[in-house]
Amino acid sequence: MSVEIKSTREIEAIRVSGRMAAETLMLVGSRLRAGMTTEEINRIVHDDTIRRGAIPSPLNYHGFPKSVCTSINHVVCHGIPRHDEVLRDGDIINVDVTTFHGGVHGDTSATFYIGTPSDEARKVTEAARQALALGIAQVRENARLGDIGAAIQEFAEGQGLGVVRDYTGHGIGRRFHEPPSVHHYGKRGSGIRLKAGMVFTIEPMINLGTYEVDLLADKWTVITRDRKLSAQFEHTIVVTKTGCEILTQRPGVLPNSEDLPWVQRP
Ligand code: MF3
Ligand code: CO
Ligand code: CO
Repeated sequence: MSVEIKSTREIEAIRVSGRMAAETLMLVGSRLRAGMTTEEINRIVHDDTIRRGAIPSPLNYHGFPKSVCTSINHVVCHGIPRHDEVLRDGDIINVDVTTFHGGVHGDTSATFYIGTPSDEARKVTEAARQALALGIAQVRENARLGDIGAAIQEFAEGQGLGVVRDYTGHGIGRRFHEPPSVHHYGKRGSGIRLKAGMVFTIEPMINLGTYEVDLLADKWTVITRDRKLSAQFEHTIVVTKTGCEILTQRPGVLPNSEDLPWVQRP
């Protein structure tokens, strides 16, 4: 399957849906607190997305029953919000927001701290944040797709952390998931050559222990095989001649996080 080169108009549309997803993610981040349920997070994301005249992409996507993915502690990704799942002090939680607007999707996630993190929670979360930054830093026209995964894998494994193999970043646009698959491990100089106008996500899932994962009986929730912590950050980006543009750029710094403002390259 070939990778689309998006038109200027389509990129502008993804910039709009991506910005909406980023703003919704910031809103959720500001509301997080111990004692709240993941169903309350779902309600915030759902209502804020509809208020914007947009649709939450996860809802009914291949049967996914909610409007956002909420993945706590050893849950790697695709956690399903629940009325009976309560955030507790010391938890880490990834909130993954995808917004469909103007015929295109924008996809972004972050891992947040509930109260004060343990040293282990902080280690895996800050490594995931930096892994995404290092992956993004590889992107420019004529770089190779494998350069992204190689940079992430070298960094994470160098800290003794695991890089999830079974789930990847992805092309995005009129479809939620389209080619290419963006692996978060790999070899420098391998894979397709990146071209300006390609739009895809980078979303490394970094584990405190083994990279191996299991799928729960609900067929969505992915957990670490050793039940150790996992963290993830995600941006949607467009390749440019000199680098890339983050299409899910946030209008400020994330709350409940050690977020830093991203330096935008031209
Ligand atoms: N947002 C996820 C991703 O980054 C996909 C979630 S699919 C869902 O690709 F159905 F679980 F929502
Ligand atoms: Co994604
Ligand atoms: Co996502």
